[in-house]
Amino acid sequence: MPKTLIIKNKIKKFNEQIRVSGDKSLSIRWVLLASQATGKSKGYNLLMSEDVLAAIDSIKKLGIKVEIQKNYCEIVGNGINGFKYKKNLTINAKNSGTLGRLILGLLIKSPKKIKIIGDKSLSKRDFSRVTIPLEKFGVKFSYKIKNKLPLKILGTQSAKGIKYLENRGSAQCKSSIMLAALNASGITSIKAKKSRNHSELLFKYLKIPMKIKKTKKFDFIEIKKPEKINAFNYQIPGDISSSAFFIVLTILASNSKLLIKNVNINPSRIGVITILKKMGAKIVLKNQRNYRGEKIANISIKSSKNLKAINCPSELNSSAIDEFLVIFLVAAKANGISYFKDISELNQKESPRLNWGSKILNMMGVKTELTKDSIKIYGQPNLKIIKPIVIKNYLRDHRIFMMSTIAALTFGNKWTIHDKDSINTSFPTFLKIIKKINK
Ligand code: S3P
Repeated sequence: MPKTLIIKNKIKKFNEQIRVSGDKSLSIRWVLLASQATGKSKGYNLLMSEDVLAAIDSIKKLGIKVEIQKNYCEIVGNGINGFKYKKNLTINAKNSGTLGRLILGLLIKSPKKIKIIGDKSLSKRDFSRVTIPLEKFGVKFSYKIKNKLPLKILGTQSAKGIKYLENRGSAQCKSSIMLAALNASGITSIKAKKSRNHSELLFKYLKIPMKIKKTKKFDFIEIKKPEKINAFNYQIPGDISSSAFFIVLTILASNSKLLIKNVNINPSRIGVITILKKMGAKIVLKNQRNYRGEKIANISIKSSKNLKAINCPSELNSSAIDEFLVIFLVAAKANGISYFKDISELNQKESPRLNWGSKILNMMGVKTELTKDSIKIYGQPNLKIIKPIVIKNYLRDHRIFMMSTIAALTFGNKWTIHDKDSINTSFPTFLKIIKKINK
């Protein structure tokens, strides 16, 4: 299979129904929590992407039995901290920040050193954001380069609950400490800036002793070490982050309609919908329902004209953190100058996405003003791309690839987009679904 995607034509008018694959955050959390449960858990509609497979491989290396069947994945947990492994174990988190950071939380009692490695992109990312709070439990880390992968973790047998302030709005940091709390005596108290709350909802469903007080900006979470976690089956809903590419495809296409069925619309994840609606996009959430604390809906989208620029409120940043690249594409076509601020975290992702987003817009002929934590985008409702575009050397960031594909299909001209395999990280069926829509 060629590794480069070439797109020469805009997408044709469409009216389709699709499903996207399972939510990545929930898939990884289900794998990690099922590994701590006692007995057999089954996960349905688990995302079968490289990030999730890396999570499965990691718990297998830690002695947990996993079977992947056609319609589900079965994990046989040995209880909390029931890992069994030999000396000199290496775990490969590959491209996944979520896996790399969350699994460290589960390893705070490891009696033997475990090495965590990752791919080129993950090895550039900051781990101090989890190693510093985990050290407070008594965990020891060693590195080649401080706070970067590869690192080694050595746990402690006497972890006591800690007090932790999570001030970035990072669910990865919050969740890493929540998982560590499963192995710490006493109470772990977390004051966390608002971020996706899948871990909290799963802890609640699993009856892990936990109290949560919510204020406008912060959640105060207290967790007590549980006696045991019961095995649990879970049906993973569709991923809003994957859906976002198709939402924007439809908004920017002409005279088209799309229904995306069974998507997780957890309020802490749908900043993209709030932002795009403020910009004038036609999006309707239909048939809303609950599943184990998570909200699910079908999302109906129509091509939208007269898009308006936005001065995006920073409170929405965390709930749209993985979707800004495609939001920028809508801003490129909006009437007026859009402004996104306090988004330095975007440069801490699989690639420096704020910089890359700006660079791609510039290649498209869109003016931007970029700082280290903000971007202004000068929208052009009649934008026409006048020269061919080549996207390469972007650290194989899956979302850069998918954003570029959506831009190519909606703004036109010839696009050559390298590293097609990058989609396997989060959304292996992305191009198949594009094909189904673009008949
Ligand atoms: C994730 C949290 C976010 C997000 C990532 C998945 C999670 O990262 O960007 O893709 O599953 O907890 P941060 O919490 O570090 O912002």
